Amino acid sequence: MCGIIGYVGPGPATPRILSGLQRLDYRGYDSAGVVVLDGDRIRVEKMPGKLDHLLDHLKKMPAMNGCVGLGHTRWATHGGPTQRNAHPHLSHRATVAVVHNGIIENHEELRRRLRKRGYRFASETDTEVIAHLVEDHYRGDPLEAVRRAINQLDGSFAIGALFRDHPDVLIGARLNSPLLVGYGEGANYLASDAPAVLPFTRKVAYLEDRELAEIRPGGIRVIDAGGRPRDPKVIDITWDFASAAKEGYPHFMLKEVYEQPRALADTIRGRTNRQHLHFPELEIPARRLRAAKRVTIVACGTAAHAGMTAKYAFEELARIPTEVVLASEFRYGDPVIGRDTLAIAVTQSGETMDTLCAIRAAKEHGALALAVCNVVGSSIPRACDGTVYTHAGPEIGVASTKAYTTQIAVLELLAIRLGMIRGTLTREAARPLLRAMERVPAAVEKALECDGGVAKLARKYAGSRNFMYIGRRYNFPNAYEGALKLKELSYIHAEGYGAGEMKHGPLALVDDTFPTVAVCTKGRAYDKILSNMKEIEARGGILIAVANPRDAKVRALARHVVEVPQTIEMVSPMVTVVPLQLLAYHIAVTLGRDVDKPRNLAKAVTVE
Ligand code: M6R
Repeated sequence: MCGIIGYVGPGPATPRILSGLQRLDYRGYDSAGVVVLDGDRIRVEKMPGKLDHLLDHLKKMPAMNGCVGLGHTRWATHGGPTQRNAHPHLSHRATVAVVHNGIIENHEELRRRLRKRGYRFASETDTEVIAHLVEDHYRGDPLEAVRRAINQLDGSFAIGALFRDHPDVLIGARLNSPLLVGYGEGANYLASDAPAVLPFTRKVAYLEDRELAEIRPGGIRVIDAGGRPRDPKVIDITWDFASAAKEGYPHFMLKEVYEQPRALADTIRGRTNRQHLHFPELEIPARRLRAAKRVTIVACGTAAHAGMTAKYAFEELARIPTEVVLASEFRYGDPVIGRDTLAIAVTQSGETMDTLCAIRAAKEHGALALAVCNVVGSSIPRACDGTVYTHAGPEIGVASTKAYTTQIAVLELLAIRLGMIRGTLTREAARPLLRAMERVPAAVEKALECDGGVAKLARKYAGSRNFMYIGRRYNFPNAYEGALKLKELSYIHAEGYGAGEMKHGPLALVDDTFPTVAVCTKGRAYDKILSNMKEIEARGGILIAVANPRDAKVRALARHVVEVPQTIEMVSPMVTVVPLQLLAYHIAVTLGRDVDKPRNLAKAVTVE
């Protein structure tokens, strides 16, 4: 998830672009860059790190003049957060400059083809492929060149392009990534989202998938990928800046909950196409993964819950003994770790000190270290032998949501891969699992429809002093996760338990004031969890069930049922957690809590 701003008009582009970038840093802060057509030369300035680095750098440089330009703030996906990977990217002969948000899934294949045609690459990014491709198609018409190029791209993109030979044109195009055009007075704009253009105009039109815009000072022309004219719907943005940054959601957390279908699609797609599963960025050879005799997962909080879910998949599919250790405990025990251990650090930020120390310790014991991380180039990937990235985009709310579901997706894909490498999972057996993975984004989208019903439940039970969450097998860690979300957001005491454990003690807590949230979707232990729920119901406990549609057995037991789509059990936690996230969110809102910044907590815990 990156930020894009473009300007074409009579005035200087650079100040407007920098002002737009200042309002986009919540979309990424790995690097920032600006490009203008300065005379007859495309001039690019870019710096790694936050926008301030670029601003300081520009102060030392000759002024960037020009009335057409683009700016970009980056959240790295392909290629580390370095200067040469920063956007904008120039084409081979410096005739085209491109900024991009999204992931080009077929970039390796396109790169190979372009190399054969003599194109030289200066970065490791997928974006540079677009710049070369546009140049390759350019025959004097910028819009046509971008149209031909995007018809060769798979994945997701919002693109801004500027041409050396066209001082009054910007081109925008999108697929699965937001992009809008802004209508000003004698000047027009391109942006990934509204906050970037709010000081200049409130009249915008959001492009649809596979639409392109040709933006000139005097007007904007939109076409589809077949070249047919389109008539975009122009709307007036009435939001203030803060709401616009949240795309109209009242909190970043809610926005991030709703981003999960997109984040999961970006994470899963490109790694699986039903037949195959590959992790192009994972630099660990298959023979080293095959040699592992055990897996040790180290992580904290929500990331540890993702690890706990993955344990079921690693053991079921790859038949490899797997343990999950809280990173904060790992160094203070005597972990049995050696050269035959695959140690996996799971982390959104890549900076959690406990996790960093744990994975370093695992490496010192000889383990092969792998990171599952959301932030490219952060400390934990740098400390590991290889990394697989969750493409969740920046997560701003302190409560982890889209990072969690994408961590589960990556870990389960890894479990499938490991199973195939170790010969415990045939290609035929893997195929339905990969298909189920590919359907997860749609299932999560459907699960989000429970929002209204969950909000009502939240208002009804926000006064409860305690909550219990129960689940079994793959959904047992979601009991912990549901309880953690509620605790951290609402400050209500909540506990997560494996449902079978209730009769070993916690059942004593249950009375007619005590809500228990039971995740009881179909799976191997479905009948067992129904029995556990009966034990609670018999004692007058209030049962809120997360179940599959039309489940008469659950309806007979639970006071409230929240329905989510049925999936195979392995992928179900990514779906069943949605109502748990929403319940915690709405209870916190009902109680007037600071949802995005709960008291006493920080987004990245960089101290031990
Ligand atoms: O950045 P990390 O994933 O390493 O953070 C680990 C935990 O601090 C984190 O998951 C925390 O538990 C969540 N923010 C809670 O929602």
